[in-house]
Amino acid sequence: PAQADVRGGQFQLTAASRILAVSNLKNEAQLLAARLRPATGFPLQVKSGKLKISDGDIVLTPNGADASLGAEGYELSVTTNRAVIRATTAAGMFYGMESLLQLLPQEIFSNQPASGIAWTMPCAEISDAPRFAWRGFMLDVSRHFFTVAEVKQVLDLMALYKLNTFHWHLVDDQGWRIQIKKYPKLTEVGAWRDDIGFGLASNSATAYDKHGRYGGFYTQRDIREVVAYAAARHITVVPEIEMPGHSSAALTAYPQFVCAHAKIVMPGKGGVFTGVYCAGNDATFVFLGNVLKEVAGLFPGKYIHIGGDEVDKSNWKNCAECQARIKAEGLKDEKELQAYFIRRIEKIVEARGKNLIGWSEIREGGLAPSAALMDWIGGGAESAASGHDVVMTPTKYCYFDYYQSTNHAAEPKAIGGFLPLESVYQLEPMPEKLAPEFQAHVLGGQANLWTEYVPNLRQVEYMMFPRLGALSEVDWSRPTARDWEDFKTRTALNEKRLDAMGVNYRPLSKPE
Ligand code: ACM
Ligand code: ZN
Repeated sequence: PAQADVRGGQFQLTAASRILAVSNLKNEAQLLAARLRPATGFPLQVKSGKLKISDGDIVLTPNGADASLGAEGYELSVTTNRAVIRATTAAGMFYGMESLLQLLPQEIFSNQPASGIAWTMPCAEISDAPRFAWRGFMLDVSRHFFTVAEVKQVLDLMALYKLNTFHWHLVDDQGWRIQIKKYPKLTEVGAWRDDIGFGLASNSATAYDKHGRYGGFYTQRDIREVVAYAAARHITVVPEIEMPGHSSAALTAYPQFVCAHAKIVMPGKGGVFTGVYCAGNDATFVFLGNVLKEVAGLFPGKYIHIGGDEVDKSNWKNCAECQARIKAEGLKDEKELQAYFIRRIEKIVEARGKNLIGWSEIREGGLAPSAALMDWIGGGAESAASGHDVVMTPTKYCYFDYYQSTNHAAEPKAIGGFLPLESVYQLEPMPEKLAPEFQAHVLGGQANLWTEYVPNLRQVEYMMFPRLGALSEVDWSRPTARDWEDFKTRTALNEKRLDAMGVNYRPLSKPE
């Protein structure tokens, strides 16, 4: 926290403790009760209205809250007879609750009754607010599919670390994971592949259908359920619909949107790898417009991520329609054709009341006027300096698909790289030379978990932890408060909480 003074004395939670909350904080109060009940076994009634506070009560209130702490700030005051969280918003209240849980013995995080525990908290005065508004984690559900229950577990773990943005990578070459009612083949065809691929053992995952095909998808009802679950935890879901590259799954289902001469074969079915939409065909934009219309209706957040990375432009070079587009629009080359593509999509996204965000490469050939950039290989500082919003997710600090050790033999197979805990902790989202007047354009930092080699939830957890704690601290705290040795001490303590929850992680004691 920004400020934490631990005082003498203790607060004791008991079977008679109640959670008192004003009525518009009922959701938070119920969540807190649900978090405290399994381990304590206490009934912990939730009450609102005019009530006399009794010893041992937890109080959630906006009264007297410090508005200068912003939209996500809170104060937590623990004295011997009560614990009070003050916040002007439900989000701030939620983060105060997370901090309150951390003051209790680690057994509080268990789903099972824990006997013989004194449920005490040290008396403390805490005042806290995050540094960045975008505290993100990306999960790739295309390379490997994760169920709604598994995604909810990821959201719970993000919430524990006060992250607030879930970037859901729903589309890539290896699988289309979101039901689109107008185009049923996207999921009938695009959500499945012949086998798990990537040279992995077939039993490393369970996402098979009755024909033995690997994959899966979310119905629109599933999507709404996940969005609501996230919202209750103050997490915004940012859907990613990849284009114009990384689109083999969509184009296997609807090959009419590939450049005319090109053949499309889904990865895992052998053959060429040409998953790029034709930029010369107007029907491509009608199709994507219809897809984005349904997507915009499912996700209440401000942003739609349209990918834009690693576009193989060789088809465009050899396509008469793409070349005709370049000529008709007065474009210089295929890079400018990509910029044309993104600008046209930007208009579609804006017409749905949303903002477009895309990977570093959408700068090639000129960044679309109101686009936000997700910087993985550069361009963040330059984009912010020209007035675009930016999310920092540089590979060197943020790629959770990288190995956590140089001793690969002792690790689950990963894509490569080396990203130990300390490197994540060294991330500084604010570019060094960015002038003060542009700094507000840097929304925050995000970790990305690509899942080519991550076929199940246990391994997702292993790649997330303990690194997610470092990312959280970077996004939440002031740079001056960062202290690696202290962070390691707290990471070791945190292992006990993860143990209590049954979450898999890479132990701090394991050599890197
Ligand atoms: C990326 O890692 N291709 C954004
Ligand atoms: Zn074309």
